[in-house]
Amino acid sequence: MGYLEEKKLEDEYIMHTFGRKPVQLVRGSGMSVWDDAGNEYLDFIAGIGVNSLGHCHPALVQALQEQENRLIHVSNYYYIEGRGHLAQRISDLINLKEPEDAEHWQTFFANSGAEANECAIKLVRLYARKRAADPTAPCDKRVIVTLQRSFHGRTLATLAATAQPVKQEVFQPLPDGFIATPPNDVAALQQLFDQMGSKICGVLIEPVQGESGVYPCTQEFLSQARLLTEQADALLMFDEVQCGIYRCGTYPFGFQHFDVMPDIIAMAKGIGGGVPMGACAARAHVSQAFEPGEHGSTFGGSNLAVAAANCVLSTIPQDGIAENVTRVGAYLADKLAELPHVKEVRGLGLMRAAEFDESVDAPALVLAALDEGLLLNAVGPHTLRFLPPLICTQEDVDVLAARLVELL
Ligand SMILES: Cc1ncc(COP(=O)(O)O)c(C=O)c1O
Repeated sequence: MGYLEEKKLEDEYIMHTFGRKPVQLVRGSGMSVWDDAGNEYLDFIAGIGVNSLGHCHPALVQALQEQENRLIHVSNYYYIEGRGHLAQRISDLINLKEPEDAEHWQTFFANSGAEANECAIKLVRLYARKRAADPTAPCDKRVIVTLQRSFHGRTLATLAATAQPVKQEVFQPLPDGFIATPPNDVAALQQLFDQMGSKICGVLIEPVQGESGVYPCTQEFLSQARLLTEQADALLMFDEVQCGIYRCGTYPFGFQHFDVMPDIIAMAKGIGGGVPMGACAARAHVSQAFEPGEHGSTFGGSNLAVAAANCVLSTIPQDGIAENVTRVGAYLADKLAELPHVKEVRGLGLMRAAEFDESVDAPALVLAALDEGLLLNAVGPHTLRFLPPLICTQEDVDVLAARLVELL
């Protein structure tokens, strides 16, 4: 079906929750995708940071085909081949940077970033409650601190955690028990703990805020969050849905760039390379708060998603992809900084934003770039965000930069 027919049907029968670009993508390979008319695009958004190995990586296609031919889904009532190994792998990756302090991490598998965060939110509340003097009584220690400008998902609880009033307003009332503090403001965080530390059960932070425009946290702020949560007998949760799975280069997780270990980590996006998977990992003494029946998912950690994630997490180290992210990410940052009208370039690895002056209309630039064979993404009126596949090369960045110079 061609683009126009597809558009007509989708406009009529699909809920209008996204403003879609006028193109239907039907095929992909590596950094490129093609529309139904045969036009090629270099993809600098990668399904919103999902296609970590690029489009249709042969290893991922093979892993999926093999799994599809054997078993697609059986549910969490049963053991699933390769899932224990995947969870062990996640535990090892979390411990990678500080093997001498290695801890045992346990994972819950879900299907999306929002669900990974839902699990973290439920777990942190349950953990506080089960540690209370009377675990059967209502628990006072249930406030979760989040950061202004954050994004944690679109479900009601994750929307409540997403401290962006414009996104929340029309859906009130939202679940309560969330309080937002300004990012990187150590004094404000300290003040919050001084005022209500005994009520705080956890702090939820994106080490690099993604949706709001790629804003990394400072080392000082994350260290302080670690210290204050420890002192208040609360847990530190990192939302690594966007900045995790080698997106920031060198290490598997964004937080490993800051030398601060959390207690709970939510991840999703790149872990399945395009197959839906979310995961919430927690230190074992925390995760053991869950008992059978207290959390679950029909599809979470199903055979197909497990096969995909095992393939992604083994291919990235084998193919030197982490090093590629670091090298090409730095190159991308330099090239973006040289563009006309750029005021600031932010981010780590292949998670970058370019902030332009007010003469640049970023959404209009994204549309114009389609005609030049580029898939781009605007996260503000003057801000572009770049989340290409982790296999992006310097030559790809050169093409991007040359076309952007023309467009600007
Ligand atoms: C940091 C972060 N957390 C959570 C989410 C929600 O993930 P999903 O759309 O898979 O539910 C996103 C999505 O962009 C995200 O960037």
